[in-house]
Parts: sequence; C-alpha cells; structure tokens
Amino acid sequence: MSNYHIKNFPEYFHEYRKSVRNPELFWEEIAEEHFLWRKKWDNVLNWDFTKPEVKWFEGAQLNITENCIDRHLYTNGNKNAIIFEPNNPEEPTEYITYNQLSERVNQFANVLKSKGIKKGDRVCIYLPMIPELAISLLACARIGAIHSVVFAGFSAQALATRIQDSDCKMVITSDGSYRGAKTIDLKGIVDDALESCPTIESCLVAKRINSNISMKEGRDFWLQPLLDEASKDCEPEIMDSEDPLFILYTSGSTGKPKGMVHTTGGYMVYTAFTFKNVFQYREGDVYWCTADIGWITGHSYIVYGPLANGATTLMFEGVPSYPDFGRFWEVVEKHKVNQFYTAPTAIRALAKEGVEHLEKYDLSSIKVLGTVGEPINEEAWHWYDDNVGKKKAPIVDTWWQTETGGIMITPIPFSTPTKPTYATLPFLGIQPALMDENGKEIKGNQVDGRLCIKFPWPSMARTIWGNHQRYKETYFSAFENKYFTGDGALRDEVGYYRITGRVDDVIIVSGHNLGTAPIEDAINEHPAVAESAIVGFPHDIKGNALYGYVTLKDTGESRDQDNLRKEINQMITEQIGPIAKLDKIQFTSGLPKTRSGKIMRRILRKIASRDTSNLGDTSTLLNPEVVQDIMDNVL
Ligand code: PRX
Repeated sequence: MSNYHIKNFPEYFHEYRKSVRNPELFWEEIAEEHFLWRKKWDNVLNWDFTKPEVKWFEGAQLNITENCIDRHLYTNGNKNAIIFEPNNPEEPTEYITYNQLSERVNQFANVLKSKGIKKGDRVCIYLPMIPELAISLLACARIGAIHSVVFAGFSAQALATRIQDSDCKMVITSDGSYRGAKTIDLKGIVDDALESCPTIESCLVAKRINSNISMKEGRDFWLQPLLDEASKDCEPEIMDSEDPLFILYTSGSTGKPKGMVHTTGGYMVYTAFTFKNVFQYREGDVYWCTADIGWITGHSYIVYGPLANGATTLMFEGVPSYPDFGRFWEVVEKHKVNQFYTAPTAIRALAKEGVEHLEKYDLSSIKVLGTVGEPINEEAWHWYDDNVGKKKAPIVDTWWQTETGGIMITPIPFSTPTKPTYATLPFLGIQPALMDENGKEIKGNQVDGRLCIKFPWPSMARTIWGNHQRYKETYFSAFENKYFTGDGALRDEVGYYRITGRVDDVIIVSGHNLGTAPIEDAINEHPAVAESAIVGFPHDIKGNALYGYVTLKDTGESRDQDNLRKEINQMITEQIGPIAKLDKIQFTSGLPKTRSGKIMRRILRKIASRDTSNLGDTSTLLNPEVVQDIMDNVL
C-alpha cells in the first residue's frame, strides 16, 4: 500500500479486498515502508488457531522506541510529542518535545538498569496520568523490560494479585494522585500491596502531590534524584518481533484477571497504521484521547500509535467534571485539538449537564470524533455529533478489545458513511464472522450472532501470561479455528456491524470491563453472606450498573440492611476497587438455580432490568418459588 492514508470509500474497499486476499503481502508492504527495523523478517506470518500460535514478522529485529522517538529526532525534534494538561487548570501545561522525550526516556531507562532491571523482567507501573507514566512505558520498552500497567484506581489487593501473577521485580508509583478536588494516597496502596509481593526488589516513587509518605529503606527510591544523575543516552535493546512488549490485565468471566501478552513488531505496525487512518492524523494536528494509560486504549492510542507516527498526543490528568463540566472543552479550545477520542459514558455524563458548558468554548478545531469502550446509544451519538462536532466532524465508533491490541471495526473518517450506533466496517485486514449457537457461520446480511475473527491480525494478544491453556480455552475453543470475542453483533442490510454487547459474564460499567466472579468472591467473604450473584442493568450514564442479589446465612436475625450494604461495598472496594461497587443490593431468600446447581443469571438479569414480561422457561429450576419472591422485592 503506497498510500498510508485511505482517502475515500472506493479506496477503502479496494484496499480491504487486497488486505484479505493476500494479508501477508499487504502487511509486509506496510511494515516495510513505514517503520525502522534493525533486521528484516524471515517470515511475515505463521499461524495456527488450533494451538493457538500466531507470529508476525518472525525473525525481524527492532526496538519500538526507535520508531516512536529516535527516528523523529532528525526531522521533528522540536515538535511536541506530549502535551500534559494537569488536573488543576491553574497549573501550567507541560510541553514535551521529541528531543526532550528522548532524553527523559533514556534517563528513565538508565535508572531502571541501575536498579537491576534487564530484558524480559516484568515491571509493574501504578501511576496516575502524569508524564512519568508514558515515559516509564517507553523506558521499559527501551531496555526490553516487559511493562505491566495497573490502572491506578485498583485496590491494594487487586494490585498485589497482578504483581504476583507476573512476578514483577519492580513497581513504579507516585506519592499520590489528584482526581478532581480529591487526592488519592497511591503509595499507601502500594505499601499494602507489597506486603504480599516478595518478588518486588525496588519501588520507584514519583513526586506528584507532595504528601507525607513512608519510604522503606533499601526498597523505595524517589525517582527524580535518580533521573537527575542518569545519562541522557541509552542504546536501545534490540528485540525480536515476537518478544513481549507488555502485559495488560483484563477481567474474565471466571477466575483471576488475565494477563494479556502483546508482542513488539506486529503491535507496533497495527497500532501505528490504525492510528493514522482511523483518526486521519495529519502533520501538525493535536490529538487527544481521554482514556487512562492504565487501559489498552491509552497504551495503543495515547502512547504507541500516536508516537510511532510522530504525532502530538495530549495527556490529561483530570476528570471531565473538574473544576466544572466544561473542562474537556476548555482543553480542546486551549490546545486546538483536532481529533478527540472518548467513551460513551463520558459523553452521556456531559450531555446530562447541558450544552451551556460547551457553548463558552471554540471547538472549531475538531475534525474527527471518536468513541470506544462500550456500545454508544443513539441519543449520545447525536448529542456528540450535534454539539461537539457541529455535524461536521465524522464520529468513529471504534470497536476493539484489550486482546485485539488495536481498533478492529470502525468507520474511516471522510470515507465510510457513518450510522449512529454502528461501528460499521472491519478495518483493513480484519475478517469478522458472525456465528450461530451451533458453531456455524451465519452468512448474508440482516443477521445477528456471536462475533468472531477468522484470520490473525498483527496486534492480537499472543497468550495469557503463564497460562496458554486458558488463552486457548477462552478465545479459540468456542468456535473452531476462530478467535471468539465474547461479544454479540448484528450485521445490517449493507454489511455494517453493530456491537450489541457481551454474551458472557463480563459487564461493562462506564467502559470498564468487570467480571462477575471476582466481585461475587469479594461479597461471599463477608461473614454474613451465604451466596451472591451479580448482574448488569441499564444505567443512563454508566451504560450498565451492577445489581447484586445476596442471600444471607442467617435470615432470621434482623440486621441493619443499609449497614450491610455499606459493608459489602466496602469489601468490594478493598478487593477490587471503587469501580466495582454495586449500585443496588437486594437481599434474597435464595437464588434461582438449575438442577445442576448453576445460578440462572438470565432470569436475574431480566428482573434487575425490570423486563419480566417473558422470563423464559423456569420449569427446569430447582427452586422456582424464589423467582416470585425476588420479583416482589426488586429494588
Ligand atoms: O464489549 C466490547 C466493548 O468493550 C469490550 C472490550 O473491553 P476492553 O478490553 O476493556 O477494551 C476497551 C477498549 C478497547 C469489547 O469486548 N467495546 C469496546 N468498544 C466498543 C465496545 N462495544 C461497543 N462498541 C464499541 N465501540
């Protein structure tokens, strides 16, 4: 492909056809023309979904930071790489040029080395959205260490589980973080977590809120003095294309979180190529994705994708509501943001506050709007289109996952006609399939089914850290020879896709993936609880909220139910984090179960959603009498 940018709809179709007829040739041309390799590959692609094994650009050598930083220095060293907009609008913006980014990444990389971090070691990063976060990812990549970023809203216990799972040697954190008007004691959380993490040898601490924290002698080090002493030169470690770049944990339906492993070459090619096309980034543009780098969206579309293109990427520390609901738009106006990428939950929250918050600001710089993380409802889509894009900026509804590494189904702005609530068409090289319950592919249009992908793409996760068997079972066993996404989708009369939501026990709350099992485990640890079941129910702003059905051990005793609810939510906050708190907790006399003892969540979901006109077949239940009782007491 000689054109890096797709320019119109016929060109999309033309390129798409090429990309699926001969995927190897297609990706080889892109990889060859647009990236810096120390050694070319022997093989473009090797794959076998039955094992499953996928290798892209095998035998090639590179360092992703040479692609994200060094190669831009010759032409664009003084261009802004990162614009950092702090939580407090009174604090000055920080502009980091490519030259400065290079120096800061190298210094950080040298600090990592001085603390004994080597190629292949795992480094846990638990930081707020400050420049050190982006820089620490790149510093790990510079020396071939595998970063594992844990979103800084997770609890000590959740952090510890993730550190233990991948045997991290180091954790990078800060004294604390700002979140709107509040501060959060991050170092305290890390201290609690590290009590059960014997593999951690050192902890680097960035100063952000100047709080009084305790530093453990020999383990904890302030970052800045180490950086000040470190050299600004650091030779990149030469990596194989299939060497792991990072681990990122995501929730599953059952069990502990899954450490998705992404490798170097394919991930770089795919995130960079999608970034350029999906956002139609042009030289000089300022691009802003509001996600946190703790999630995959931040990895791929705040850090790696934009920087590989030599783009200017904005990092925002704050929240949309602080100091008021105009903050996003104030930032857009201030930096003349050209591409703006956010989540439906943020759009709904802002829409609720009214357009007066927008009207004060000049949003005319916006060329492309993006959304990601959950299905966008029609009302939110139109609000975004009318008020933010003024009907002039195409909306790219991008469907993808932690596991896919990059955007999979999306319109191409100015090429694909958009349709509210539809992610529209597969990106180049992506071959979706809809499957029926019997495992057969559903052909034709105006159909719905389970969404699978039939052919590998460069940025797909290669395994689950330490558990390849689980990777196989979760993604490659439901449908033969296909990657199963866990989502349902429909295809309309012209072939556009609309994602309808998860078909497993993962619930997406405010764009965050939450598995029901770990939340239920947390609740069941309460001494008064016999058992529990969590389901999602529709929520105006969060998309879904969590509804808990809880059966107590001793129903005879009269308890203060409100107090119990508080205690249950407190346990969830401690074990997972505040994002997993329940909106409603109903105490039940029992939970509807099949004869084999499985909780019938389908019924519970319908009751929580107040959709009880057709509960389906309840005759197979072991205890049908509880259903009426639950319905009578629904909250
Ligand atoms: O259900 C889909 C939903 O988010 C899930 C993936 O979540 P996560 O791994 O956290 O990654 C989120 C950011 C890429 C998917 O299985 N999802 C993501 N984007 C969309 C979406 N659902 C509908 N429309 C989208 N655009």
